[in-house]
Amino acid sequence: MMKRIRIGVVGGHRGRALAKLSDIFEYVEFAAACDIKPSNWYEKQWLMPGAFSDLFPNAVFYEDYDKMLDEAELDVVIVETGADIHAEFCIKALERNIHVLSDIPNVANLDEADRLWKAAEKSSAMISTGANPNEQKFTVLLQDFYNKGLLGKPYCMEAEYIHWTLPGSEENIHLNENGDWRKLLAPIRYCTHSLGPLQTILEEELRTVTCFGTGQQTDEVGTMMYRDDMMCAQFQTDSGVIVRLMRNGRCRANIGHHNYRVFGTEGYMERIDRFDKPVIRYNSFRELDTGLKEIGGEFMPPAYANNEKATGHGGMDYAMLDHFFDAVRFGKEPPISLRAGLLMTLPGIYAEESAKRGGQIMRMKYPWDEDFSTIME
Ligand SMILES: NC(=O)c1ccc[n+]([C@@H]2O[C@H](COP(=O)([O-])OP(=O)(O)OC[C@H]3O[C@@H](n4cnc5c(N)ncnc54)[C@H](O)[C@@H]3O)[C@@H](O)[C@H]2O)c1
Repeated sequence: MMKRIRIGVVGGHRGRALAKLSDIFEYVEFAAACDIKPSNWYEKQWLMPGAFSDLFPNAVFYEDYDKMLDEAELDVVIVETGADIHAEFCIKALERNIHVLSDIPNVANLDEADRLWKAAEKSSAMISTGANPNEQKFTVLLQDFYNKGLLGKPYCMEAEYIHWTLPGSEENIHLNENGDWRKLLAPIRYCTHSLGPLQTILEEELRTVTCFGTGQQTDEVGTMMYRDDMMCAQFQTDSGVIVRLMRNGRCRANIGHHNYRVFGTEGYMERIDRFDKPVIRYNSFRELDTGLKEIGGEFMPPAYANNEKATGHGGMDYAMLDHFFDAVRFGKEPPISLRAGLLMTLPGIYAEESAKRGGQIMRMKYPWDEDFSTIME
């Protein structure tokens, strides 16, 4: 019998949720967890039925990440610390040749991008990006549509991730009890859910960006925070493809979170989420019937629709773990590579800087470029 994959998780409500989901794979053993707050392990947490220490009595808890890596004999680490502090954890695991599944955004700045890229190149372990929206039905269908030639060349794409907020909800105790990254991160930096799916059919890098922020227009009572209520970025590739992205800080409209539109030279596909009834619409001039068709836009990846174990964000989390563990077990390429992760992460970092510079058009570079620099021009 094949040895079970020993996994450890560092940080997060999400970390513990993914550890729990991983543990249902028969060839996975949830061996260790790490958090700087032991109460997150030993006491019942928000939205959880009980303390994790009771649910997983055989998993060893560590307060010190280095100690976990050195002692727990892990094959895999799942990095689920706050969204602005992933890279150091990934680098440390890669240096010890432990496979990594890193949540997104992978890095918080260009220096981290450079160091993580180099650490991954040196390591005999692999790093995969935990971008679950890349597993959703829309992404799967979009790739299929593109690969069959029904879309043609995508020349203009649009995405929005708009998460509604109630007045004062930024101060919600549960959302901030483990750190304030949710409040501090510029909205446009959380762009991976939007760019990731679109980039699966984009055969070149996003190279230029310009971004604007609204500043704070809403009147937030009781908050010391000042940040953009909405940010809008436009990206372009060297061949002229445009990608437009909207991300909110504050928003009073309870509309669907994730929306995408893709215009191709031969066809079109969109996912529009309104009234809790997401739909996917598409048409192609390569087909006899060129009219727009409509199907359900639920997240569940089609290949997992009849798998009752497929849960977590509508089945996307399960699909992501399944693909990742498959790659670990059989020595395959990471399902969502570090390159793909940086391609969806760095545009947010450059866009934030463009907005700070009043919408300046900036040239984006990536660690694999010969002229990559950690200093922005
Ligand atoms: N892809 C998705 O669907 C999805 C959904 C939710 C969250 N996320 C991502 O998951 C990550 C975690 O989100 P969350 O909501 O669980 O955040 P969180 O703030 O609740 O969790 C972060 C955890 O990291 C711990 N931590 C911080 N520094 C540490 C250190 N040095 N050593 C060990 N632990 C440390 C904190 O104590 C905390 O428990 C974020 O990157 C977020 O973007 C992704």
